Amino acid sequence: MNMNCNIVLTGFMGAGKTSLGKAVSKILQVPFLDTDDLIVQSEGMPVSEIFRTKGEDYFRSLETETVRALGDRGDRYVLSVGGGLVMRPENRVLLHRCGLVVYLKAGIDTLAGRLAHDTKRPLLHQGEGTLEEKIARILALREPVYEEAADVVFLNDNKPFQQAAREIASLADSKA
Ligand code: S3P
Repeated sequence: MNMNCNIVLTGFMGAGKTSLGKAVSKILQVPFLDTDDLIVQSEGMPVSEIFRTKGEDYFRSLETETVRALGDRGDRYVLSVGGGLVMRPENRVLLHRCGLVVYLKAGIDTLAGRLAHDTKRPLLHQGEGTLEEKIARILALREPVYEEAADVVFLNDNKPFQQAAREIASLADSKA
């Protein structure tokens, strides 16, 4: 396949960035990268442990370093980024250096269904309220930022998985 640009997947936790990102990378025959995975590898501990021992700010700085380094690479990849990464303005600039920024958008019910048994995401295990309430609270702050930061908004609520992966892969040809 003729791939002109990298695909960068953003969106809320549970939006399908990792699973779809892997499928898109297979279609495009390029490596799949994930900012959380890169951070976990370099720090030698899970994200929840980084939050617990070093704090969220520290994690956010690692995200910035990671996405900066990715933008400096000249190679092809499909990238999935942590759901909160877009919230730092400098990260949004850096993301566009990595490739075409695709916001994987999903509704609260879809997200809650996918996150119901989560044990790895610290933000879902702090604060008051049900899972739906927590998602709604964080999403209300983030939704405008996801939209603003995106080159493409891709609705990922009910679409068959392989169809969604093919459609996202085809976006790689849309920006040189
Ligand atoms: C976070 C999302 C997580 C991970 C961390 C914080 C967030 O990544 O980076 O738990 O702030 O939304 P995923 O979006 O891949 O779950």
